[in-house]
Amino acid sequence: MNPLDATKSGFLLCVAVCMFIYTFIYLKDTLSAEPDEQKFSTNRAECGFYPDELCSALFVGKTAALKIGSICQNTDRPAALSCVQTSCNCSTVLKALHFITRPLSDEEGSFSLAYIITIHKELEMFVKLLRAIYMPQNIYCIHVDEKSPTDYKAAVQNIVNCFENIFISSKRENVVYAGFSRLQADINCMRDLVHSKIQWNYVINLCGQDYPIKTNKDIIKYIKSKWNGKNMTPGVVQPLHMKHRTQVSYREYVRSGTSYVYPTKNAKTKPPYNLTIYFGSAYYILTKEFVEFTLTDARAKDLLEWSRDTYSPDEHYWVTLNRLHGHYIRDICVYGLGDLQWIIESPHLFANKFEPATYPLVMDCLERRHRLKVLHQAEVPIEDDWRFQEDNSFNMKLNV
Ligand SMILES: *[C@@H]1O[C@H](CO)[C@@H](O)[C@H](O)[C@H]1NC(C)=O
Ligand SMILES: *[C@@H]1O[C@H](CO)[C@@H](O)[C@H](O)[C@H]1NC(C)=O
Repeated sequence: MNPLDATKSGFLLCVAVCMFIYTFIYLKDTLSAEPDEQKFSTNRAECGFYPDELCSALFVGKTAALKIGSICQNTDRPAALSCVQTSCNCSTVLKALHFITRPLSDEEGSFSLAYIITIHKELEMFVKLLRAIYMPQNIYCIHVDEKSPTDYKAAVQNIVNCFENIFISSKRENVVYAGFSRLQADINCMRDLVHSKIQWNYVINLCGQDYPIKTNKDIIKYIKSKWNGKNMTPGVVQPLHMKHRTQVSYREYVRSGTSYVYPTKNAKTKPPYNLTIYFGSAYYILTKEFVEFTLTDARAKDLLEWSRDTYSPDEHYWVTLNRLHGHYIRDICVYGLGDLQWIIESPHLFANKFEPATYPLVMDCLERRHRLKVLHQAEVPIEDDWRFQEDNSFNMKLNV
């Protein structure tokens, strides 16, 4: 292979990997097949008491498991949230929801991640996400959409009250899809996070429908090995077909029940400091130093002001700023051909667009598998409450 080909395939691989860090899980589509079967009334007994057995079969794609799964996912399921909605005390909430209460290794204990989670609905999915990424040494800023229902906000507050390292963003936005408010929500959390007593190394942003594919330990190892001191903001120079996003002024339309972003006829000025606008992911992993830079640097502040009336500014702001910061990686990302095997074996940190209300079994299986991996890697004694179920011969095996 000549060097150009190698560069090109490396480049293509980069693009593929960057774009697929956040990817859709298609398992849910396969589970939705054959709606006719759902008319059978079934009870829990017929579906078995060992979800791990069914999940294991689903992970290897057994067709019988798909059929059973599509029936059984609609039967009565244990209500994990009953404790939050009633008034359990915090020690009961932590136990009932299987939160991990001690760092699982020295390495994790001395490397704290900060998370920004923006949510607006679906309490159950939020709890599943939170208990998957929760570690006592990390810190979590939750941005609850200002327009969320009051009882939703209250339930989130109930959970948050049980933890010293989880808090609700002190300033809340009415978040409009593709609007500046989405970016502002992250920045509100960042302001709170840099002023927190809890020290952290990197910040990761997620939305309520995301779910981790990797464990806390995996994520730390990944950051340390590939990105030490650098930011992860995958992107490219703004493509032509994206230029309209920053060429005219956009406004947010917000009324109860409906909100959206619309273009006006007003042309925008050039970006401040003649900055080249990049385009990429609204999701990132950023160093604390970079977060402090974005909150204080004059160019960062001016770019933020200039972005106020652009379309989906979260998809250019971080990427563009990272190019200014001096620690960016010259190419689109740093993967090379040598990473191929690693990528094939475990390409994703997080996956997104989960709808537990429609495909509950997908989430059940993913979270069982995730927790199993987490506990498998633990270097401290495991407490019973951390497990989702007692040991039995049907327990999921990790090597599938
Ligand atoms: C929390 O509630 C449980 C069950 O109601 C009770 O056994 C426990 O003592 C309570 N703990 C605290 C700290 O109040
Ligand atoms: C931006 O670039 C133009 C030409 O490309 C130049 O005339 C102008 O002075 C630059 N402005 C700043 C603020 O650097």
